[in-house]
Amino acid sequence: MTSHSIAAVVLAAGLGTRMKSDLPKVMHPICGVPMVSHVLSMLDQVQVDRKVVVTGQDMPEVAELAKTTGADVAYQVDRLGTAHAVLAAKDALKDFQGDVLVVFGDTPLITADTIDKAISLRRTVDNPAAVVLGFEMDDPAAFGRLIVDDNGYLNAIVEAKDASPQELAVTLCNSGVMLLDGDVAWQILEAIDCNNAKGEYYLTDFIKHACQSGRVCEVVEGDSEEFYGANNRADLALLESIAQDRLRAHWLAEGVTMTDPHTVYLSADTKLGRDVSIAPFVTFGPGVEVADGVEIKSFCHFEDAKIGKGATVGPYARLRPGAVLHEGAHIGNFVEIKKSVVEAGAKVNHLTYIGDARVGEKANIGAGTITCNYDGFNKSHTDIGKGAFIGSNTSLIAPVKIGDGAIVGAGSAVSEDVEADSLAVVRAPQKQVSGWAERFRTKMRALKAKS
Ligand code: UD1
Ligand code: CA
Repeated sequence: MTSHSIAAVVLAAGLGTRMKSDLPKVMHPICGVPMVSHVLSMLDQVQVDRKVVVTGQDMPEVAELAKTTGADVAYQVDRLGTAHAVLAAKDALKDFQGDVLVVFGDTPLITADTIDKAISLRRTVDNPAAVVLGFEMDDPAAFGRLIVDDNGYLNAIVEAKDASPQELAVTLCNSGVMLLDGDVAWQILEAIDCNNAKGEYYLTDFIKHACQSGRVCEVVEGDSEEFYGANNRADLALLESIAQDRLRAHWLAEGVTMTDPHTVYLSADTKLGRDVSIAPFVTFGPGVEVADGVEIKSFCHFEDAKIGKGATVGPYARLRPGAVLHEGAHIGNFVEIKKSVVEAGAKVNHLTYIGDARVGEKANIGAGTITCNYDGFNKSHTDIGKGAFIGSNTSLIAPVKIGDGAIVGAGSAVSEDVEADSLAVVRAPQKQVSGWAERFRTKMRALKAKS
């Protein structure tokens, strides 16, 4: 009897020529993270015991990413087909006892629920040698066809290129994903040959061999959308739109308001609190966390940022990596914040750049304030104290410290530290010349009349 441990083998050695890209196909992002990462995190949800990513030696990015998720890496040197690719993982699993789940790295929308169904079916008394995930398609085109008998058992998978007209008429398709009985998996995989239209070692031939040895194989059907893969950029865009819709639906169900969900773009790792409200046209890049009750107005762009409880942001705000807003902060229009902490209740409402800075609790930053954090060589820090008031159009030339409760006059270029509760004004004194404007106009009108 097979143990119930599962090792997942993720096939990701394909070149993805039609992507016309320098990036390996499975590294192309969907909702901000590589396709293969979606597959690997789905595998964590179904709690597989081992993960092996099969990739090419010419794709170091894939190996690196796989290792960071705790997966082993196996290399397929020649790309001789899907069965050959699974066999590339054999060595990495030589000390593993249990079933083998084969998934594709370029099919990122498969859900853990569907894999769980395959796992349950595998554990029934039928003890199927393989459980294949299939789906119905009106026009199955190039997909392999699942040939099922009257008892519902899977007798064969026929590749479109090798299929008879009757077989081509079958609309039940092979997703490519299958769960194999570990007791027979390697032995059958090694028996598969390449006598077919493409001259490849087909994983799909596993079924034929298993049936010939007297075992049964079965099918679990999923929604066709789950098995869409990306062969080109148009496919990639379609996968993105499906994945975005899923994320939107998820967060709407979690208590987030979106006025027009289709205009809100999320990342797979976006975290949104309860009663967050998001106006149209907002983009969440990777690494964004939003606490409860935050209001996000239109046209904002966020990346690697944290927004504290009850803060309001936008319209037209940009939070770049390392932006941290504490509770009740106000970030207004045309404000960019990078690697800075804006403490509770502070206001940065208009046309401002805050970079490498701390904005103290309840400080008020006037319109057009700029932290001058970069001299072309180094980044320097600006520290703005609690309750400080920075007048409009101020340049804070870092490194510089504005004490708690200090006031900086509008238009100042501040390059020296300002003491707590003091006033700093750095600007030329105002000059007034009485009647000058009227005299100027009279003179100019006269000159113009002569010419
Ligand atoms: C495969 C199935 C087909 C199924 C379809 C679903 C086979 C023979 N056919 O066809 O029945 O309907 O998927 O999408 O399995 N790969 C490698 N090394 C290789 C070959 C492939 O790593 O030598 C990887 C690819 O990167 C890809 C996956 O395996 O992630 C599937 O390979 P692909 O060539 O796209 O198979 P299909 O022809 O689409
Ligand atoms: Ca494919």
